[in-house]
Amino acid sequence: MERIKTIRIALTKGRLEESATEIFEQIGLNCSELKDKGRKLVFNDYDNNIEFVLVKAPDVLTYVEHGAADIGIVGKDTLREMKKDFYEVLDLKVGRCKFSLASIPSFKLNEGFNRLKIATKYPNVAREYFREKGIDVEIIKIEGSVELAPILGLADAIVDIVETGTTLKENGLIIFEDICDISARMIVNRASMKLNKLRIEDIINKIKKYVEGV
Ligand code: PRP
Repeated sequence: MERIKTIRIALTKGRLEESATEIFEQIGLNCSELKDKGRKLVFNDYDNNIEFVLVKAPDVLTYVEHGAADIGIVGKDTLREMKKDFYEVLDLKVGRCKFSLASIPSFKLNEGFNRLKIATKYPNVAREYFREKGIDVEIIKIEGSVELAPILGLADAIVDIVETGTTLKENGLIIFEDICDISARMIVNRASMKLNKLRIEDIINKIKKYVEGV
């Protein structure tokens, strides 16, 4: 008897974890290991020959591009920042947030002769945004707590993710422009899409039906 191949799904650790797990559960996958995870990183749904792995967002792209995972669940923020090669097949409509330009209230976008300094975790997104506006800026890449940058004078403004707006508000920053909406997406390795067409299409169709019905 031919052994059914295990489909490996790379999930982004953290904010998307819970909503993605909920979706997989709703389409009939067994997520009991995933929901009782401790420090484990690999979780099996033996009933459906599915293996879940938990990794950081940029690594979801890497695992899927190289075929070490067949499917990935990752935010559009990471997809916009890192150009890699795979199919982006579905908007899961969870993990909704946006990219915004924000700063202290006295910030002026179009005034002053000095080149603006923009702090961000997403240099490519920020560079593209200002290139489209025809504004020459210096991008300063930082790794987190981006809201501190204009407060401490490291940068004039930030390009960052806004979800509830609480972090901006509690640090006295305001939004000057919204750049684009973000939500979780499903990506699929190009070879897996051919080799496991029926099973992957079945997962895509079930999730599509579920998210469209919510
Ligand atoms: C993200 C983002 C903002 C915050 C926005 O940071 O960079 O700081 O969430 O969320 P809110 O609008 O709901 O307040 P994250 O929590 O991922 O941590 P980090 O700053 O360490 O990157």
